[in-house]
Amino acid sequence: MSTDAIVMLREGHKEIRRLIRSYRVERNPEVIGPFLRALTVYTYIEREGMYPRVCVLFPDAEPDVLGFVEEHHIADVLGAELYDMRPGEVAFDAKARLLMDIVERHMDAEDRSWFPRVRAAVGRKELREIGAWMTTLAERAPQHPHRPSAQTPWDAVAA
Ligand SMILES: [Fe+2]
Repeated sequence: MSTDAIVMLREGHKEIRRLIRSYRVERNPEVIGPFLRALTVYTYIEREGMYPRVCVLFPDAEPDVLGFVEEHHIADVLGAELYDMRPGEVAFDAKARLLMDIVERHMDAEDRSWFPRVRAAVGRKELREIGAWMTTLAERAPQHPHRPSAQTPWDAVAA
């Protein structure tokens, strides 16, 4: 498997999009577990591995990254709430659909404009190094969402 960071993250997006499509068509709550697991691993490796390094190599990326980190934060909050719910609960489907809408918007922004800008600005070698680091991070990534403790999620990235 390629360890190019952008290739890895796009593959993560594809898997998450597949699970979102499946839920929207079938409304099968059994999809939520795999969806939250894929989302948790993806947000962890991107936030810990990709964003901080890209901000060093390509400082112009920082304003976009600040917005993406806030989107991840909202996804963590909704994801943790959803993880604690039972499928029969009244707000389960509404929360799942809102989370999926936010995640889809986030992935669209990265796929359509941010990844191409990063690809143009950051060298292949650096992207492979980031990808290798994200592979390591994936092995120790949390497997389900946790309620975020930070009120200012950017501080955790910048630390
Ligand atoms: Fe992301």
